[in-house]
Amino acid sequence: MDGMEKIRWGILSTGRIAGRLSDTLRTLEGAELLAVGSRSRDSAEAFGERYGIPRRYGSYEELAADPDVDVIYVASPHSHHYVHTMLALEAGKHVLVEKSFAHNALETRHMIEKAREKKLFLMEAMWTRFLPHMVRLRELLGEQVIGEVRLIQVSMGFRAQAAPESRLLNPELAGGALLDVGVYPVSFTSMVWGRPERLDSQVYLGPTGVDLQETLLLGYLDGRLATLISSLHTPTNVAAYLFGTEGYIEIPKPWYHSQVLLIHKGGQTTSVACPYPGHGDQFQALETMSCIRAGKLESAVMPLSETLSIMQTMDAFRAQWGLVYPNELRA
Ligand SMILES: NC(=O)c1ccc[n+]([C@@H]2O[C@H](COP(=O)([O-])OP(=O)(O)OC[C@H]3O[C@@H](n4cnc5c(N)ncnc54)[C@H](OP(=O)(O)O)[C@@H]3O)[C@@H](O)[C@H]2O)c1
Repeated sequence: MDGMEKIRWGILSTGRIAGRLSDTLRTLEGAELLAVGSRSRDSAEAFGERYGIPRRYGSYEELAADPDVDVIYVASPHSHHYVHTMLALEAGKHVLVEKSFAHNALETRHMIEKAREKKLFLMEAMWTRFLPHMVRLRELLGEQVIGEVRLIQVSMGFRAQAAPESRLLNPELAGGALLDVGVYPVSFTSMVWGRPERLDSQVYLGPTGVDLQETLLLGYLDGRLATLISSLHTPTNVAAYLFGTEGYIEIPKPWYHSQVLLIHKGGQTTSVACPYPGHGDQFQALETMSCIRAGKLESAVMPLSETLSIMQTMDAFRAQWGLVYPNELRA
């Protein structure tokens, strides 16, 4: 693909987050918001009207069949990421798929294999990784500014006011705290340290059968430990801490899209400003387009092997709780 050509986006679903990225894409340099697909024609029309999208389809199949769409953003519930991503890849489209990537590692593996077979770009929309504060954090850790990081503590929790049949609480839609919010701290720890070697957890399963909150303990053989909290039941401080041998870094609320890092060292606190305009989801869209233009099949910042290992970690926690989603692919 020519480096100057616009990348033409198709949006799969007309939900909340689909609206957020559409809002970003319509003014993003190098992007063209070309098409939207919904299960309902009326919803596609209304969404297209709202975000200035010219082509509006009443099915996801029609969206995938549009020959002018380069990349599809899959923004359906977790339960449907696998089928919708496979639909888009089969149709020859590059795909950016919302977190959590799939129900489980088995589906993830199939999605990766399909993208490789078709030679198409595929990435988990873990947008926080691309934000300026995460870029700066990786640099600071590389410089060992707080020595060696030995402990991580992260929380991500809010009180969901959601109906039992909603995406957040419905097992049919792979609801629950782990796939909705827990994936952020798990992914964050993976970004800093890679795949954990030991896992322990406690969970509170709610009336619909999905996890309402959990504490996750991640261990590494050399003694590094992470304690993670995720909740749809209890609001938390939504902060992250990395404790090193010579100080600690605090990422204040909301840590996953904070615009500041606080370095606490030698009795002093240094504030590192990391501002950005807009929602912040533009960075993952820019990464997607830059990879597609360069003919890359995956991003070095959010590689597919890491998405797979994150899903394996989450599978292992669910196995500890006996939590199986009714629609997940099983071996
Ligand atoms: N990056 C972030 O900050 C962020 C924030 C929130 C959510 N997310 C992720 O984005 C994804 C969607 O979340 P959301 O909050 O946007 O959800 P939502 O508002 O409930 O929208 C989901 C959309 O998926 C489509 N869909 C397809 N099959 C469906 C089914 N069987 N039941 C319900 N909807 C179905 C619907 O679109 P149509 O009716 O048009 O077909 C619906 O509007 C999830 O993976 C979530 O984890 C990411």
